[in-house]
Amino acid sequence: MRIKKIIILNLIFLIFLFGEKGGKKMKLKLPKPRYKSEVSVEEALLKRRSVRSYQKSPLTLEEVSQLLWAAYGVTADWGGKTCPSAGATYPLVIYLVAGEVKDLKPGVYQYLPEEHSLKLVLEKDVRKELTAAAWQQEYILKAPINIIITANYERTTSHYGERGIRYVHMEVGHCGQNIHLQCETMGLGTVVIGAFNDKEVKRILNIKEDVLYIMPVGRKK
Ligand SMILES: Cc1cc2nc3c(=O)[nH]c(=O)nc-3n(C[C@H](O)[C@H](O)[C@H](O)COP(=O)(O)O)c2cc1C
Repeated sequence: MRIKKIIILNLIFLIFLFGEKGGKKMKLKLPKPRYKSEVSVEEALLKRRSVRSYQKSPLTLEEVSQLLWAAYGVTADWGGKTCPSAGATYPLVIYLVAGEVKDLKPGVYQYLPEEHSLKLVLEKDVRKELTAAAWQQEYILKAPINIIITANYERTTSHYGERGIRYVHMEVGHCGQNIHLQCETMGLGTVVIGAFNDKEVKRILNIKEDVLYIMPVGRKK
């Protein structure tokens, strides 16, 4: 009986130890974004086009950091972000599908704006499955990364009821444009993809939020 108790206690200890270590390992602090660029807002607006073919070249963590910050980074002490948000409810959750990023394992990561870090969700390159779930739009597969804009509607509808749904969709537009314009300043190209099988994409990414945009990003050819 005593041995049984010791074994169980040891097991609990091991689970705690590895769980804790695993938890720490699963988060990655991103490099600080830069706030200046050679390209003006006007030039970025002028040049912005949907780009659907990319160089076969990995992105760096600095580039990933910059794009995620532009998408939904924190820019005010009180938690304000790069996107306007109805009642500052911030319903969006941004995921990174990493395929080819220097110093980052392929996988699905959640962007944590408050810490400007990544949290591993799934250690697997899902680009092929994602392409199939988006009617074979093969730029998803060819892009070194895809940024996924998802939403937790409840955060906004709990304040605004039905009207909150339209507010969430408006915010997704702001976020997508932020990524588009940031790409232009970095020699990168992207496109907003709205045509995909909702259920399939959610299943592949292993997430609970609703997916609204898939944005493949790569170097312009
Ligand atoms: C809501 C929305 C959904 C879109 N879905 C797709 C898509 O599934 N696949 C795609 O290749 N482009 C998609 N696009 C991009 C449009 O095709 C593109 O913006 C349009 O042709 C204008 O070209 P431009 O972005 O180069 O100005 C979408 C754009 C919007 C706004």
